Amino acid sequence: MPRRVVLDCDTGTDDAIAIMLAAARPELDLVAVTAVWGNHAVEHTADNSRRVLDLIGRGDIPVYAGRGAPVDPPKGAPASKGSPEADVLPLPPPTQQVESRDAVEWLVETARASTQRFTLVPTGSLSNVASAVAADPSFVEAVDELVVMGGVIDRDGLLPDIETNVGNDPEAALRVLDAGFDRLTMVPLDATYRATVTVEQCATLRTVSRAGAVAADFIEQRIERYRRLPAMAGRAAAPVHDALTIAHLVDSTVVTLQRASVRVHTGDSPTRGRTDITVGTGDVRVAVDADASRFFDLLHESLAQL
Ligand code: BDR
Ligand code: CA
Repeated sequence: MPRRVVLDCDTGTDDAIAIMLAAARPELDLVAVTAVWGNHAVEHTADNSRRVLDLIGRGDIPVYAGRGAPVDPPKGAPASKGSPEADVLPLPPPTQQVESRDAVEWLVETARASTQRFTLVPTGSLSNVASAVAADPSFVEAVDELVVMGGVIDRDGLLPDIETNVGNDPEAALRVLDAGFDRLTMVPLDATYRATVTVEQCATLRTVSRAGAVAADFIEQRIERYRRLPAMAGRAAAPVHDALTIAHLVDSTVVTLQRASVRVHTGDSPTRGRTDITVGTGDVRVAVDADASRFFDLLHESLAQL
């Protein structure tokens, strides 16, 4: 039986590729996409998610729009910078509407009604998931694994101090970490920067399908931005952060997990949004490394199916 998955994302280019990957895989049943603010306003992330699903012929998968702002920011908290990408993905306008039901309500109702647990994959700000937990603390029982793209360990001092998904809504991240999910897996920047995709690999993806060509365009745009960062050391390559969460669900050897404890800096502290991740003991399973060639092979094989 395929594993039931709900993707909670702020679609942007890397979330878009995560959606494609999740929809392509026979091991996964992408039940719904719930949109949250982050890379862009929630109206755009919902609309972008619809566009991606149309592109891959999966207009049947519903998209729900959720929170458009952090759950409980302190007065004067800096606003998110958003993404340098255009708000609207360069894809044809969607043919299906975003559902009228609010994403958080849908998540809570679905959890209550489900006899079968589902896997929840947040790849945007954690505002929807924190709101679902606040609305019904027993929500966590319906989730067999929560796989969060977020946080940063940064042993070498080359990665951003603050990862965007946690940094956008640290109070939400804290609430989610403390909610009591049975299995909480975190895929931080340290892992996603180990699984970068190169310009040459984009040329290969471009040939496999229309979705592959769109993914290649998106990754090439990302490479233009990322290649200037110290972490890329001049390489023409970029991480596709969110897609690594889905790769982990399909093949557990793509990332290396270690037990860790995670602390999030919240409130009006100058380090607001930072994560202190102590590897060795703790309840969170954190991806500390990733296998770039396995990740690319999976992406390649999956996009060829679309
Ligand atoms: C994360 O932040 C978002 O901008 C990306 O889509 C990704 O989920 C990376 O820090
Ligand atoms: Ca994202």
